[in-house]
This record gives sequence, C-alpha cells and structure tokens, in this order.
Amino acid sequence: MSLDLNIKHLRELKEEAKRGGGEDRIEAQHKRGRLTARERLDLLLDKGSFREVDAFVAHRTTDFGLDEKKFLADSVVTGWGTINGRLVYAFSQDFTVFGGSLGEVHAEKVCKIMDMAIKSGAPLIGLNDSGGARIQEGVVSLGGYADIFLRNTLASGVIPQISAIMGPCAGGAVYSPALTDFIFMVKNTSYMFVTGPDVVKAVTHEDVSFEELGGAETHNAVSGVSHFATDNEADCLFLIRKLLAYLPQNNMEDPPFAKSADDPLRMDERLDAIIPDDPSKPYDMKEVVKMIVDNAEFFEVHEHYAANIVVGFARLGGHSVGIVANQPAVLAGVLDINSSEKAARFVRFCDCFNLPIVTFEDVPGFLPGIGQEHGGIIRSGAKLLYAYCEATVPKITVITRKAYGGAYDVMSSKHIRGDVNLAWPTAEIAVMGPDGAVSIIFRKELAEAEDPIAKKAELVADYREKFSNPYVAASRGYIDDVIEPRETRSRLINALEMLENKRDANPAKKHGNIPL
Ligand code: HXC
Repeated sequence: MSLDLNIKHLRELKEEAKRGGGEDRIEAQHKRGRLTARERLDLLLDKGSFREVDAFVAHRTTDFGLDEKKFLADSVVTGWGTINGRLVYAFSQDFTVFGGSLGEVHAEKVCKIMDMAIKSGAPLIGLNDSGGARIQEGVVSLGGYADIFLRNTLASGVIPQISAIMGPCAGGAVYSPALTDFIFMVKNTSYMFVTGPDVVKAVTHEDVSFEELGGAETHNAVSGVSHFATDNEADCLFLIRKLLAYLPQNNMEDPPFAKSADDPLRMDERLDAIIPDDPSKPYDMKEVVKMIVDNAEFFEVHEHYAANIVVGFARLGGHSVGIVANQPAVLAGVLDINSSEKAARFVRFCDCFNLPIVTFEDVPGFLPGIGQEHGGIIRSGAKLLYAYCEATVPKITVITRKAYGGAYDVMSSKHIRGDVNLAWPTAEIAVMGPDGAVSIIFRKELAEAEDPIAKKAELVADYREKFSNPYVAASRGYIDDVIEPRETRSRLINALEMLENKRDANPAKKHGNIPL
C-alpha cells in the first residue's frame, strides 16, 4: 500500500467509527429527541479539544451471530478533552450500537479512561444511554459492570465523577451513575430503573409508565437519586460545564479561584429586615444566600428534593464554597429523613474536595412523627451529624433565627469543629421553641393557674427574653460574634481568607462507619 492509500484507509476507518450504528439508527436517535454520543461530546467539551481513544476496538463475541455485526468503537465513545481549558475524561455511550449495551470491550474502554482519569487527577464525566448488560455476552457483561463499579468506588473522593442520564438506563447501567457524585437527567427522554415497567408489572402487578417509574421528575423530586433535571440535552451538558467551574480537579487541589467584580465589603441593608417580626413566619433562605454571595449566583444542587434544606455552590470573594441552608419557607426548615440525607451527602462531597462549607441556620429541630421515627430519622439525622463532625474543611456558620435542640448541635456548631460561628441578633438558640419549653417546664403551674392563657403568655415572654437570643450562647463562646445581617458577606469572606491555610485531621483509621 502506498502512503496515500494508508492514510485513505485510516481515514475511512475513522469515518466508519464515527458513523456508529449507521445512518438509520442515528436518524432514529434524533427522532427520539436525543443527540448521538459524539454530538453530545461536542457540546460538552471545548471546541476541538476531544481526543478519542479506542476507536478501532470492536467486540469479540461470536454467539448469537454477533460476529456478523461489528461496529468500530463498539457502543461507547471514550477519550479526553477540556472544559473551560481544564482537562476532563469522558465516555459517551452510543445507543445506535446495540442500544448502548455494555459488553466486554465497552467495559474495557470505560475502565481504561477511568484509570487514566484517576492517575492524572482529572474529573470523569459519563454520558449514559444504555440498555444495560449486553444480553448476548452474558456473564462477561456483568463482570464488565463490576470492573466499572470498583473503579467508581476507588475514584470516589479522589476525582469528581459526574453522570448524565441521556436515554434509558436499565439494569446494571444505573449503578455506575449511582456511585458517582452528581447525576443529571433530561426531562422526558431519560430514565433510570433497576427493572423496567414490564418486569414491575409481572412481579408486583403494578401498572407504571417509564416516566413515572424512573423519569427525571421521579428521580429528582421523589427518590432523590438524581441531582439535576434539565429541559433538554444541551442544557444538561451546559450545566455540567458550569458545575465543574466550582470544583477542583482532584482531592489534592484547592477549588478554582475566580476573581469577582462584586465588592467583598458590599453591605446589603435588605438583610437587616428579612427576618419577619413573627418568629413563626417564613422567609426565603435562598434570597438570603443570593444577597450575600458573589453576583447573586447560587448554583443549586438537588433543588427538587427535600426543599426544606438547600444545598449548592457559590463564590464568596472569588472563593468557591459549598452552601448548606435550612429553608424556613418549606416545612419551617425542619430536619427530616430526606433533608438530613441530602445535606449529609453534600457536606461529605465538599469535605472530599476541599470546599469550605458555609451553613445558614434557621431550624426548629427534627420533624416529630411516627412516620419519621419508624423511617429511621435517628439514623438519617446521625448521618448529617457524622458528616459535619468528620469534615475538616473550613466550616463557617451563620445562625439567622432558630437553632433549636439537636439541630443546633448538628448544623456545624462550635462543638463539632465549626471554625467561625456567627449569629444575627434575631438568632434564637435554645433547647426548643418558647411555646414547647414553657408547656413542659411549667406544666404544673399552667394547670393550676387561674388564667392559663395569660400565664402561658407571661412565661413564654420570660423564656424568650432569657433564652431566645444569641447572647447566652455568645457569652459561653459557642458563638464567636453577633453581627449585623448586612455585614454577613464581608464577615464570611474575611473568615474564609483567615481559614485559607486551615489544617485539621481526623485520627488515623481505615475508614469510619457512617450510619448508612
Ligand atoms: C443487547 C440491546 C440491549 C441489551 C437494547 N438492545 N438493549 N442489545 N443487550 N441489553 C438493542 C436492541 O436489541 C435494539 O437492537 C437496539 O438495542 C435498540 O433497542 P430498542 O428496544 O429498539 O429501543 P427502545 O424501544 O428505545 O428501548 C430501549 C430499552 C429496551 C428500554 C433499553 O431496549 C430494553 O428494555 N432493553 C433491555 C433492557 C434490559 O433488560 N437490560 C438488561 C438489564 S440486566 P436493533 O438491532 O434492533 O437496533 C443488567 C444486569 C447488570 O443490566 C447487573 C449489574 C449489577
């Protein structure tokens, strides 16, 4: 072969790999409202930055006539590229080839780039669109999944791992995403389930649609498996780019600093009036967060799940931080099973990746009820407690209003290694709210009072004056300072900079035993 012919042959092979399962299947993919594996990578990565590996790999199976059906690159496109100039590794499953199903070589390709991502300390992004284990390859497919699960687990806390669900994800295809840090789903075109509607019908006799069983809304609002729901694939890929801007490349790096034009000393007087006079009235904690962070930009995570707690990323004076905030506008900001687990997982992510945690606290306590107790609120609340206790990143807390009971301890209190604990003058730090406290400690007096209502009002007022303020806690040093709400931004930025070189460690151990 002449040199020209060699190059022609090479180009033909590469073109063949790019066609995946062929024009008809690409058209069918588009008709389903979905992009192809390669189109998705083009949108995800900086223009022209993608370097593909293993385009010449094809499966080795001969059973079920598969030797007649070979596709270059098999059912996954793998390689690396950049996002905003920073290295990432990615795999993108190709539904046009055997429905994106995972066989031996598909798994080998994914494992290869996972190993490279771990070695070079760069994030891994998986674009998932797969019918699960390749049925024709049998146990080899199952082994391939397990090889990936192991790497997901070993990479956890070393490099950020992000999964986008962009089509069906059935069977084993759901567990690799579930082991990663964040899951994105696209509304109406992506599904995740261990067993699909047909199997559900056969086993439990329940009738359920794909969407209801495992669509984006279900996993964002009901199960909490997914962290983001987007209207279309382009939004999903754009959001992944945005998320990465807050994260370091790996656990040995600090998060990226992004110089901000927003004045670090900016005061916002609206904060002084945001807490309603009536302590039982709600306000929107997201508004508080937005008034304080750089350019009012708050990148919320898990927005549709357990909205009584808010978590997400923001910048303060250019420093990337994780925000955890009780939300008094939803269920009075109470801690329940779901909100405890949501926040615990987020706190642990921040701690893995050196992101300081800023906690805004207004919490009346843990949610009472048979359902909560029987559902294990003790275990779930303990997860959040554990996550905050073990975190060694800078931890800054602002108590805006209620910090009652165990929830006071849990939400990054001084006692569990909060570095800087601030309170607004409106803070109420007590074992419980005045009403409940008076009913318990003055039960006898109230029963004997001539006018129990007037007596209770008097006792509640006394209790409020004595305990429902930040000064008792501040007098013991549990609160470092009581600040004017308008100064919160400058105080947080100052605290973050003061803590920039913070070093803290936990006792040497194999790993702890978080109450899962
Ligand atoms: C091999 C598969 C496949 C699979 C789909 N295909 N899934 N090939 N193994 N698992 C092929 C189809 O044969 C078809 O090939 C092409 O992909 C497109 O599939 P369609 O069914 O035409 O597409 P659609 O109607 O959109 O349905 C998509 C789907 C459905 C919902 C994913 O294909 C499906 O239910 N597949 C099976 C899902 C499943 O049960 N997987 C195994 C799970 S067990 P042609 O040539 O016709 O285009 C598992 C165990 C792992 O994963 C456990 C590890 C812990």
